[in-house]
Amino acid sequence: MASIPLLVDFDPGIDDAIALSYLAAHPEVEIAGLIATGGNVEVGLVHRNALVLAELLGIDAPIARGAERPLVQEPMYADDTHGPSGIGHAKLPEPILAGDPRSGAQLWVDLARARPGELVALVLGPHTNLALALEIEPELPRLLKRLHIMGGAINHRGNTGPTSEWNIAVDPEAAQRVLVAFTGAPQRPVLGSLEATEAVRFTQDTLDRFVALVETTGHPVAQILVDALRFYFEFHEADGFGWMAHVHDPLVTAHAVTGDFAATRPLAVDVELAGTLTRGQTVGDELGRWGREPNVEVLTDVRAAEFIGHLLETLQNGLVRTGRRG
Ligand code: BDR
Ligand code: CA
Repeated sequence: MASIPLLVDFDPGIDDAIALSYLAAHPEVEIAGLIATGGNVEVGLVHRNALVLAELLGIDAPIARGAERPLVQEPMYADDTHGPSGIGHAKLPEPILAGDPRSGAQLWVDLARARPGELVALVLGPHTNLALALEIEPELPRLLKRLHIMGGAINHRGNTGPTSEWNIAVDPEAAQRVLVAFTGAPQRPVLGSLEATEAVRFTQDTLDRFVALVETTGHPVAQILVDALRFYFEFHEADGFGWMAHVHDPLVTAHAVTGDFAATRPLAVDVELAGTLTRGQTVGDELGRWGREPNVEVLTDVRAAEFIGHLLETLQNGLVRTGRRG
């Protein structure tokens, strides 16, 4: 029986696609809405990817197209990381589902108002839509049950600039507005930064286990994930990490659903907007020098092997259950 209603704002995206497949496969998750925001590739492509994946995964929820561009800076895209379509080497069929006509920001607001205190929200891409939604409904932090974010680099190098992480670097002003708006919210947002997500390393063994899913589930999304992951491995190898992939979004997603696989610690975090070398850096005040109350819970102490086992087991069981066409 579905019991955890989730609103997901993301930019699929290879690891976003894995996260969505996990959510669709998880027996206790209800996907209440999806919002695709330009990030890994442009907004039209991520929206298309979301529509196709949702159809293949049997997701019945509104799927809105997010903002065309970040609040202030020019858009940037990561097709070197995620492939020209956003899903690596995978070839997706044409979309059948129609998108929701509302803007991404409006869908945030409508869903949160319709179910006050119930929705667990997950941001796996840039924060543009959520920042715009806060302009429509400043009470959002009190209307949501919790907010979970994949973003930032706390005590860790960046993966975009030397000190900045992708989801924050694409729209630093939006991320900063979100952190300010959620300061003092009944539940602090949970921030899964690179410090946590890069503890998860997919190796050839993990890839083999995804390949096995193709055989055992016969689900078309399993093949899509394998083809997507091969591209992710190739990118990481070309970037000097060897034959592996950092797979960020699914860890934050699984923690949002289960509360498991990592601990959290409170921290005051802000986003650098003005730095000439460090724009987009998430700065954490570990020693309390600012004298501010912590405004986020940072994911820490990741149990990566357990998480990967849980992810694969959930996909194994759930893809069989939700499979529609083979
Ligand atoms: C984040 O950036 C994107 O490329 C990934 O999908 C993930 O959300 C990691 O920095
Ligand atoms: Ca993402």
